[in-house]
Amino acid sequence: MKKILLSGVKPTGIAHIGNYFGAMKQFVDLQDFQDGTSDGYQCYFMIADYHGLNLIQNGEEMRRLTLDLALDYLAIGIDPSRSILFKQSDVSAHTELTWIFDTLVTIPYLARAHAFKAAVEKLTDATVAQRHLSSKLEQLTDINVGTFNYPVLMAADILLYDTDVVPVGQDQKQHVEYARDIALKFNHTFCRDSISTFKLPEPLIIKDVAVVPGIDGRKMSKSYGNTIPLFATRGEIEDAVMSIVTDSNVTGAGGIPPNIYNIHKLFKNEADLTPLYDAHKGQYKALKEALIEDIDAFLKPMRERRAQLKINTDKVLEILKNGAERAGKQADAKLLEVKKIIGVTP
Ligand code: TYM
Repeated sequence: MKKILLSGVKPTGIAHIGNYFGAMKQFVDLQDFQDGTSDGYQCYFMIADYHGLNLIQNGEEMRRLTLDLALDYLAIGIDPSRSILFKQSDVSAHTELTWIFDTLVTIPYLARAHAFKAAVEKLTDATVAQRHLSSKLEQLTDINVGTFNYPVLMAADILLYDTDVVPVGQDQKQHVEYARDIALKFNHTFCRDSISTFKLPEPLIIKDVAVVPGIDGRKMSKSYGNTIPLFATRGEIEDAVMSIVTDSNVTGAGGIPPNIYNIHKLFKNEADLTPLYDAHKGQYKALKEALIEDIDAFLKPMRERRAQLKINTDKVLEILKNGAERAGKQADAKLLEVKKIIGVTP
C-alpha cells in the first residue's frame, strides 16, 4: 500500500529557492522514492489558488500565476503520469468540506493562527490610530474572512485525501497541526465505535532547510522582497547574489559571511565549501562570484526545461484538467462518506 502524500503552493508570486529547498525538492524526491521495503508514495500536488485569492484579486494575474506555478511544478520534475497535479479550485469538495469544518472550529481557536496574528499586528498601529477604531472587532477591518479561515481550507485540502505525509517548510507546521486537531474534533464528534473518518497527517519538515534564509538573512519570503527566484536568469542570479547583505555586523566567525554561506550550502556540500571559504576569508566579492556560478549551474537545467514546457501551454492545461479529474474522484468519495456521517445525505 502506498502512503498518501499531499502538499501545495500558493500562486501568489514567483517561486523562489526557499519554496524549492524547503518543500518542492522534497516533492520530487518523495515522488521518486523507492527503497524496496515500502511501496513509496501516491502524491497529490496542488496549486492552492483559493488560498492565493486572499492576495491576488485580479483575474488576469491569477490566471498567469496559476499557469506559471504549473510550469514550475513540471520543470522541477513532477511527473503527471505518476503524481496528481491539480488546481484546488477545480475540486469543489475542498470548499464544501471547509464549511463542514467551519461548524466545528471556534473563533478563538482560529485566532491563534500565526498568519492571522501577524495580520492583526500589522494593523494595529497605523490603521487603528488613523481611523479611531475602538472595538476589538472593528480593528480587524482590513483582514478578510479568508485570511482568518485559511487553516480550515488547508485542513480540508489535507484531510480529503486520507493524507499520511505533508512535506512543508517550518512556516506551515502550525497549519498541519490545525488539520490534525480538526480531524480529531470531527472524529470525536461524529464517529462511533472507534471508527475514524479522518486520518491524522504528519508534517514532513527537513531541519536543515526548514527556514531557508533570504539575501538579507531573514526567512526568504515573497513578502520580504529578499528572494532568489527559482527560475532566475543568469542576470537575475547576479543581481540577487550581489545584493546579499554582508555588512560588518553580519560577518560571521573566521571571516565567513553567514548570509552568503547559508545560501551557498544549499547548492554545494559543506566539505566542498570549506576550502573555498578558507581560501577567501573576508573576500566577499570572490565568494559571491563562486556562489553565482554554483546557483546558475544548478538552476540552468530546470530553467531550460521550463522554457521548453512553456512552448505548449495547452498541454499544461490538459495536465491540470486530468489531475483535477483524478483528485476529484478521490475527494468526492471522501466527501460523500462525510455527508452520510453528518446526516445530510441518506
Ligand atoms: P506557500 O505557497 O507560502 O509556500 C510553499 C512551500 O514553500 C515553503 N517555504 C519555505 N520553506 C523553507 N524556507 C523558506 N524561506 C520558505 N518559504 C516558503 C512553505 O513552507 C511551503 O511548504 N499554505 C501553503 C499552501 C497550501 C498547502 C496546502 C500546503 C495550501 N494547502 C495543503 C500543504 C498542504 C502556503 O501558503 O505555502
